[in-house]
Amino acid sequence: MLEKLDSIGNQALKEISAVNALDSIEDIRIRILGKKGALSEVLKGLGALAPEERPKMGAAANEWKRKIEESLAARKAELEQARLDAELQEQRIDPTLPSRLLYRGALHPITQATRRIIQVFGRLGFDVVTGPEVETEFLNFDAVNIPKDHPARDMQDTFFMGPGVVLRTHTSAVQMRALRSKAWPVRILCPGAVYRCDNDATHSPMFHQIEGLWVDRGVKMSDLKGVLEFFAREIFGADTKIRFRPSYFPFVEPGAEVDVSCFQCSGGSPSCRVCKGSGWLEILGAGMVHPKLFELAGYDPSQVTGFAFGLGVERVAMLLHRIPDLRLMFQGDVRFLNQF
Ligand code: DAH
Repeated sequence: MLEKLDSIGNQALKEISAVNALDSIEDIRIRILGKKGALSEVLKGLGALAPEERPKMGAAANEWKRKIEESLAARKAELEQARLDAELQEQRIDPTLPSRLLYRGALHPITQATRRIIQVFGRLGFDVVTGPEVETEFLNFDAVNIPKDHPARDMQDTFFMGPGVVLRTHTSAVQMRALRSKAWPVRILCPGAVYRCDNDATHSPMFHQIEGLWVDRGVKMSDLKGVLEFFAREIFGADTKIRFRPSYFPFVEPGAEVDVSCFQCSGGSPSCRVCKGSGWLEILGAGMVHPKLFELAGYDPSQVTGFAFGLGVERVAMLLHRIPDLRLMFQGDVRFLNQF
């Protein structure tokens, strides 16, 4: 009988250590330790034994029962732990992954272009100065030598806020404020919004300009050219060339329109979509500050000279990012804005 018990016990321990499924643990328990289990069956033969043999067999059976139960519990714990590990492995989360629901904000292309331009001129010593968007008609027009009968003063071009008060039509309006309030040398950059009654694919009633002004003893046209050449190379690429075309603006003499060589085709392709085959892109107006402005500001025009330029920020941003329609800039469409 002892041999039988040992054989059942050893067999059970072997099975338990080999079992791989949690369900099978219970099967084994029932098969060995259950009411009709193998161990119970053996113990049924206890009555047939000599009385002095019985306690020994009983003790041996209990010892096996204890061992088997212990082994079942241990294996069960092992299998449960393994199942938990597998689940954790499968459902692993990486807390360092960026969330999919949140969008990262970005600066508007106009803000980006403005900052880049300011940074480039900043390296040449230009300080940023701002003026009000609601401006006097005097500073917007008279002070920069735009006469009373000039067509720019027409209601069709200018938003009048009241008698003698306008929404500034250009950042040149800041020039006289700067000239008056600062002792020369004046080397400033005036970024900001300007307003005109205009609305189509290339014109918006509100847009942005950056005015530059450098006034000092002995500032020459060649300085203007050097400064603009540096700017063009920094913004549009090292191979960029610039050219001056004679033009007229009341606040400068001589005045010029300034083009940069097309960064897309480098002036080489008649079918270029950016420059329309001309090889050049017009980006700003510039010139030598008109002596009348110096007189008005209380400077002696024989002592100081200076240059001024005005550029459109949207124009630069549209060229840099190949944006086909100006109106996209102001519609707040996130599909457009997300691209920057
Ligand atoms: N104020 C001009 C405009 O709005 C741009 C401009 C042209 C500014 C020539 C200047 C300049 O300072 O010299 O179209």
